[in-house]
Amino acid sequence: MRSLTKAVAVTAALGLALTGCGRSEEATPEASGSGSTAAAGGFPADSAIGIALPQKTSENWVLAENLFNEGLTSAGFKGDVQFANGGVSEQQNQIQAMITKGAKVIVVGAIDGAQLGTQLKAAKDSGATVIAYDRLLTNTADVDYYIAYDNFKVGQLQGQALLDGLAMKKPAGPYNIELFAGSPDDNNAKVFFDGAMEVLKPKIDDGTLKVVSGQQSFEQAVTQGWKAENAQKRMDTLLAGSYTGSTALDGVLSPNDTLARAIITSVKAAGKPIPVVTGQDSEVESVKSIMAGEQFSTINKDTRKLVEETIAMVVALQKGEEPTITDTTSYDNGVKVVPANLLEPVIVTKANAAEAYANDPVLGPLTK
Ligand code: BGC
Repeated sequence: MRSLTKAVAVTAALGLALTGCGRSEEATPEASGSGSTAAAGGFPADSAIGIALPQKTSENWVLAENLFNEGLTSAGFKGDVQFANGGVSEQQNQIQAMITKGAKVIVVGAIDGAQLGTQLKAAKDSGATVIAYDRLLTNTADVDYYIAYDNFKVGQLQGQALLDGLAMKKPAGPYNIELFAGSPDDNNAKVFFDGAMEVLKPKIDDGTLKVVSGQQSFEQAVTQGWKAENAQKRMDTLLAGSYTGSTALDGVLSPNDTLARAIITSVKAAGKPIPVVTGQDSEVESVKSIMAGEQFSTINKDTRKLVEETIAMVVALQKGEEPTITDTTSYDNGVKVVPANLLEPVIVTKANAAEAYANDPVLGPLTK
């Protein structure tokens, strides 16, 4: 399996990175000042660390599994990495089990960030530190930190890539487009969509972009469960309803690669030319599609880096130090503003793929 090969390759790279765990950009005092007591005291260096991941809805989650296992082990911890393919109640049970096993830090990539309140409270009551990973944990005071690529920026980059791709296709609008969003139970989905709409909305308002179906709201654009088949079905319906005859579809905002490929499959099946389609995650099949001139863009959110930074947070906590925090204003979860370590996402098109993946042992060779 390709993704596994990628996971093994990147695991080796992470192992190397972790041996020199010294970090250059430590938090400045004013950036880290959340008043959190999470770091107080530290904990034994061989403690259990729980990693609760959602379903494997995209390659990044699959990659994270091995990276966490290997990275936590080489840092001396007892890692416990779980996926909740069965859904929210399975994830709730897994977090509860991590608490019972005495995990000192619980890192959560939530299926539904609003449904874990009871378990997160139990985690905090047990003395564990809770880190929201990739997806924010919402409506709870019981989350200490958030680590993710800057999700709003991801959306802005996707919106801008759509505009750039359309301009490359034909010099002037109006352009016919459709909008897709991720799963509404994932807090990221709305943030991605809002970031993209900040760029696209003015162009919709001035008539440069035309959403032919009229489906412009987040609620209309969502893709339940981030499932490819749901995006494909919706694209089939949109094509049949709004793109009959000579009406061309010029572009599609897709929130990630899995859905981008489903959208392209639908368009191909309808016998239409492939529009400009955005993506996210740098999945192997999408990078190949970009190099073949089909999908237009993706986002590089290197999972190696995200896991490495998460483990660096765990190491800081173990030593009783404050972890690196880069943002103390953006992620209000409804109860508190969660101090965040936000990493920079990178837009990737065919034009910069070789450069963007130069250090990626799996994706790099695909761009040659
Ligand atoms: C992640 C994306 C991913 C999506 C579906 C989001 O929360 O940030 O990278 O494509 O989940 O798995």
